[in-house]
Amino acid sequence: MSKIKKAVIPAAGMGTRFLPATKAQPKEMLPIVDTPAIQYIIKEAMDSGIEEILIVTGRNKRAIEDHFDNSVELELLLEKQDKQELLAMIKDIADIPIHYIRQKEALGLGHAIYTARQFVGNEPFAVLLGDDVVDAQKPCLKQLIEMFETYGGSILGVQEVPDEDVCKYGIVEPQKVFIKENVWKVESLVEKPSLEEKPSNLAILGRYIIQPEIFEFLGQAKPGKNGEIQLTDSLVRLAKTQRMHAYNFSGRRYDIGDKQGFLEATVDMALKNDELRAGFLAYLRDVLDKNS
Ligand code: G1P
Repeated sequence: MSKIKKAVIPAAGMGTRFLPATKAQPKEMLPIVDTPAIQYIIKEAMDSGIEEILIVTGRNKRAIEDHFDNSVELELLLEKQDKQELLAMIKDIADIPIHYIRQKEALGLGHAIYTARQFVGNEPFAVLLGDDVVDAQKPCLKQLIEMFETYGGSILGVQEVPDEDVCKYGIVEPQKVFIKENVWKVESLVEKPSLEEKPSNLAILGRYIIQPEIFEFLGQAKPGKNGEIQLTDSLVRLAKTQRMHAYNFSGRRYDIGDKQGFLEATVDMALKNDELRAGFLAYLRDVLDKNS
């Protein structure tokens, strides 16, 4: 079975939910505590054994490329100040093997993934969406890769969401046959269904392992929900011809494209940071006292 070596991270969205912060800078660069959101996602990919990453960018995304590039002046300064730890950290960021491609028109997630076809070639690959940061003991993508090693085919990372949220996600229609706890065979999928249309409450939360035949379907895809070329629609076609499983991964997922999700991620990550925890917790207690 092929090893999953390549990951695609679409980061071409306009970030309209986060205006004005995203007017001139990519939403993927908004920091959660001290680290840009996209760096958490890239770390997850690297910690899962990914060897090469393609970021699909768009207009106003140069800051992403600059962030993962060498920064000679900063390195010289840190060296002069003998800040070895910071220096190593800065160099490590620039060492990650990242490629970039521009999605020239914002035609949807399916179209963004289609631009990755040459990078991917003819092997199964991972997709990590830039809005979905997952905090997990075992990296979320690694969990999916382990499922892939057992089941082959394509794997979708899902979790159950409440009824009021099904309209925000790609929702899985699972086959009735019992597979194993937390694993379902995928019969079909619906992108952002209404409550009446929802086939289940299992939502795709931004992590995929996909077989390369998806590109045949993406190449023929027509605009779907919201007039965009949807990845979900091509996954529906792929599921009709090949094995596809949905896997309920463990971990806490944050929708960092949403203000509430972003704030929750910030608070939780700050509380996990040894330097910040005590002081920040005391501050939060004070805030609660004053607001209750
Ligand atoms: C995209 C996908 C959707 C998926 C979601 C996860 O939607 O189209 O199927 O469930 O990401 O975050 P978007 O959030 O880009 O509208």
